[in-house]
Amino acid sequence: MKITIVYESMFGNTHKVAQAISDGVREAHPDADVECVDVGNASPELTKSTDLLVVGGPTHIRHMTTDFSRKMQVSEEKKAEAKGEPAHELELDAAGPDLREWFHQVPKAKEGGQAAAFDTRLGSALAGGAAYGIAHRLHKHGYYLVKNPEGFVVDEAHGPLRTGEIERAKEWGAQLVRLSVHTTTKPVSSGSKESKTPATPTSGPRDLANLRASSPFGPTEWAWPFLDVSAEEFIKVEEFIDGDHLVIRAELPGVDPDQDIDVSVDNGVLTIAAERQESNREKLERGYRSEFRYGSFVRQVRLPAGTSAEVVSAAYKHGVLEIRMPKPKPETTSRRIQIQRA
Ligand SMILES: Cc1cc2nc3c(=O)[nH]c(=O)nc-3n(C[C@H](O)[C@H](O)[C@H](O)COP(=O)(O)O)c2cc1C
Repeated sequence: MKITIVYESMFGNTHKVAQAISDGVREAHPDADVECVDVGNASPELTKSTDLLVVGGPTHIRHMTTDFSRKMQVSEEKKAEAKGEPAHELELDAAGPDLREWFHQVPKAKEGGQAAAFDTRLGSALAGGAAYGIAHRLHKHGYYLVKNPEGFVVDEAHGPLRTGEIERAKEWGAQLVRLSVHTTTKPVSSGSKESKTPATPTSGPRDLANLRASSPFGPTEWAWPFLDVSAEEFIKVEEFIDGDHLVIRAELPGVDPDQDIDVSVDNGVLTIAAERQESNREKLERGYRSEFRYGSFVRQVRLPAGTSAEVVSAAYKHGVLEIRMPKPKPETTSRRIQIQRA
């Protein structure tokens, strides 16, 4: 199994996390062919021979770094050095190239291509996270995300990493290997902009509770949110049974359903990925105030046992994406197993 970890780093913290992830992968899977490479040296073609692609970078202004954010920091460091003030040591590729550019050259994932995204960020509730944008790009390239985007915390912008984060990164790497399985992805169109009367639940929590209770794995199979993305970055969802359908609705205001939403069902998990484009960046840079959130959002929901991968419809209206799937068919009949004498 070939596992490639591609990282971008300015002060070296994401580099250390990437290294720890590869150490964790090696410990969990000593036979694996593991390569940890900085984005400047990562040929986009190397992804073709990779079974599990792990990509990470630092968070700048709540998202993936930009040319602007990196150059601004490089020039700050140079100014500090010129004034004789202590400057922070920068990685060789601190000014670029970056993951945004790299993704433009990365080919589509091969069939069953698996991936995961991580970032480094500050420990504040408003930190944001580059991993969501990275996960969105991986998803757009056709990768199946084996695990939720993950953030590793730095104490200050230039580091160090918070105590325990290296060990957590190792464990995260080991988990990635355990979770990576052979899967096939079934892409689904997000449907048209055509208006569609939103459904009224014909049956509610009781039906869902019954389905949960009859699941061979018990209620935990239903425990969702399936993935523990920071609540701030969540696409909020609701679910209910409407006649013969399982309906999942996602709150997604301000996106173009034809271009900015991707829905796929894979291995019992529904993935909704969306990007809200920033149209007023210039105004923001001139000092306008905005509380809107832009960038990438990913939400994965584990489907109840017995749900087929078929999506009956996906429609977008008034900022809500409504996905209909056939109602899950739980196995309710019990069967006595004949034990044969040897
Ligand atoms: C220009 C700039 C903007 C930043 N903005 C954020 C931010 O919005 N949220 C956050 O959590 N960290 C932010 N940080 C701190 C970075 O998360 C931190 O520098 C990074 O995780 C360190 O990783 P590295 O050593 O690999 O570069 C910012 C840092 C810089 C230089």
